[in-house]
Amino acid sequence: MPTVDNPTEKTLAELGVNDAQGVAEKFAEVRTRFDRQVAFDADEIRSLMLHEAWLGSDSDPVTSLRNFWVGRKAGVLTMITENWLKKSPPSLKGVVGKQFNELKTHIETKLEEQRKRIEEKTEAAALNREQVDLSLPGVIRPVGSHHLIRQVFQEIEDIFFSIGFSIVEGPEIETPYYNFEALNIPEFHPVRDDMDTFYLELPKGAKTPLLLRTHTSPMQIRTMEKQKPPVRVIVPGKVYRRDNPDATHSFAFHQIEGLALDTDITFCDFTGTIEYFVKQFFGPSVKTRFRPSYFPFTEPSVEFDVSCPFCGGTGTAAAGGTCTKCKGAAWIELFGAGMVDPAVYGFVNYDAKKVSGFAFGIGIDRLAMLKYGVDDIQVFFQNDVRFLRQFP
Ligand code: PHE
Repeated sequence: MPTVDNPTEKTLAELGVNDAQGVAEKFAEVRTRFDRQVAFDADEIRSLMLHEAWLGSDSDPVTSLRNFWVGRKAGVLTMITENWLKKSPPSLKGVVGKQFNELKTHIETKLEEQRKRIEEKTEAAALNREQVDLSLPGVIRPVGSHHLIRQVFQEIEDIFFSIGFSIVEGPEIETPYYNFEALNIPEFHPVRDDMDTFYLELPKGAKTPLLLRTHTSPMQIRTMEKQKPPVRVIVPGKVYRRDNPDATHSFAFHQIEGLALDTDITFCDFTGTIEYFVKQFFGPSVKTRFRPSYFPFTEPSVEFDVSCPFCGGTGTAAAGGTCTKCKGAAWIELFGAGMVDPAVYGFVNYDAKKVSGFAFGIGIDRLAMLKYGVDDIQVFFQNDVRFLRQFP
């Protein structure tokens, strides 16, 4: 129950006031009470509401306070007008009126000040809540890196860019014509046995069989069909063979084909270019050598070797004993290459009497394994981050 009486509910006579001093005292009493309340913040007013009838019962304490003092119907100012001013004896009317006006102005000013104060406080609190803390650590998104195979592709591409080659790319699904025939590998040629091939299952009546290319060499043909000499291109890409997976075989792997054609390209240009590449890739101290080999689309064909970069081409490991990388051979087989076989020019309407050039097919996985000491090709395809992280 409210504990404090509200004197404005009575007339001045009922309160026993009958002179100017009494009037001033009553007004001072009311004003003191008001000043105390208006100084409170919203929460304090609310707790005060529980104890004092002076504050009414609106759910919002500030509105409650306001209504109690200046509410039109039953606010303190209205009550004073009704009970004190209107009902005062004529001799006191002047004093009561003057006191009333002062109190009214005071209350209105102070309520307005309170309104502003609370508004500012709420605003400041909101601003505080919305403040962005720039010192908080951000969301860290780990930056990925290129796969080692992609990195080696780039290394090799950069070396060939530096001597005037450019990149072309071709389809991974090929026709037997581009993968074999136009490369001088007719249907029953035994070399096809080396390239056990993935053929695609096609609907009956398909015009031509399709296969996953077994090497990047089909792009030699596609390039020559489109372009007249001079040609200097490299072809990075994926190739597929029906190899059983082991430490050096995978059914999918990577090659970079190279093709250089012009009217006067010699065997010397060929070996010089390869030697330049190998030294750029493995370092200037390695030696190269080539051995006769066979590919139906090159003549002569060679197999390029590099002196073992791990034992310095001695066949003996630094710590003694046989070098495990070249198995004591001092040389490591790198890749196949050769001068383009004139028979190939017949498939692309090149004049074999005028045009000469060379081609090579570098196995990327093999070179990456050699250069970075990876001893199992399977790790390139497993995408184990513990492996990938070693090559940021
Ligand atoms: N295409 C051959 C292979 O995959 C490599 C090669 C390319 C040989 C170009 C000679 C010339 O084995």
